[in-house]
Amino acid sequence: MYKQDLLASPSSQLTLNNNGSSTTVDLYSQEGLEMVAGLWLKVSCEHRLMYEPTWLGLPIIQFPTDIVMMQELIWKLRPDLIIESGLAHGGSAVLYASLCEMIGKGRVIGIDVEVREHNRTAIRSHPLSNRIEIIEGSSIDPQTFARVKERASGVQTVLVVLDSNHSHDHVLRELNLYHGLVTPGSYLVAMDGSQAHVWDVPRGKREWKEDHPLTAIRQFLKTHPEFQVDPHYTRMHLTSNPDGFLRRLTHGGAG
Ligand SMILES: C[S@@+](CC[C@H](N)C(=O)[O-])C[C@H]1O[C@@H](n2cnc3c(N)ncnc32)[C@H](O)[C@@H]1O
Repeated sequence: MYKQDLLASPSSQLTLNNNGSSTTVDLYSQEGLEMVAGLWLKVSCEHRLMYEPTWLGLPIIQFPTDIVMMQELIWKLRPDLIIESGLAHGGSAVLYASLCEMIGKGRVIGIDVEVREHNRTAIRSHPLSNRIEIIEGSSIDPQTFARVKERASGVQTVLVVLDSNHSHDHVLRELNLYHGLVTPGSYLVAMDGSQAHVWDVPRGKREWKEDHPLTAIRQFLKTHPEFQVDPHYTRMHLTSNPDGFLRRLTHGGAG
């Protein structure tokens, strides 16, 4: 892969030059891990690597490490209902449905403001389509939410994944709307907080610097102590979802 051997000995250091200032860290230190992961995020965003994976035939717009982490979460949680805003090509809905199939229970609701016909057809004709319901509409539209809320009523374990519009305002509105559907011990996953860290890449947008899910997550948590960030599912460092796994504590806040 490399044009020459990439040698990195125990004493190697990593220096990042940026507009005349530089930062140097020991490669194998915690700072080195964080710098490599942070740079991988920026470079892979520039090369649009998140658009590369597929899951059981359908494109899934996630990094492989995040796919593995969602697998860990769903396998452990064994949810009866997974609600996802942001269906896109359906790869993530099929991922969640495939885990439900392995577990032997569970359904997925995929919400999208616009479901393109070829995506709808691909999801409908997928072997796991019987576990997936598509709802077309904005996730923050009261009618969409009412439909979802009805499906979640009385369900034992509900997991919510927010992966639609990643602006501060939209994510905050989604958090405020959907958090009540998350059952105690389950999770509200707010994806793509990494938008805050990729505004400066060549393909990035300057407005992402201030407009991203992380500020929405922080604002939401100030008034919702029943939710806590769980760092377990971002421990690989290569993640698009920093501080995105919000666990709803069980009664009394102890669990
Ligand atoms: C990042 S993609 C979702 C990726 C998908 N979850 C996956 O992992 O493959 C974002 C999607 O959110 C949808 N979207 C944008 N605004 C929305 C809204 N207000 N309500 C629902 N979906 C929205 C877009 O149409 C797009 O398909």
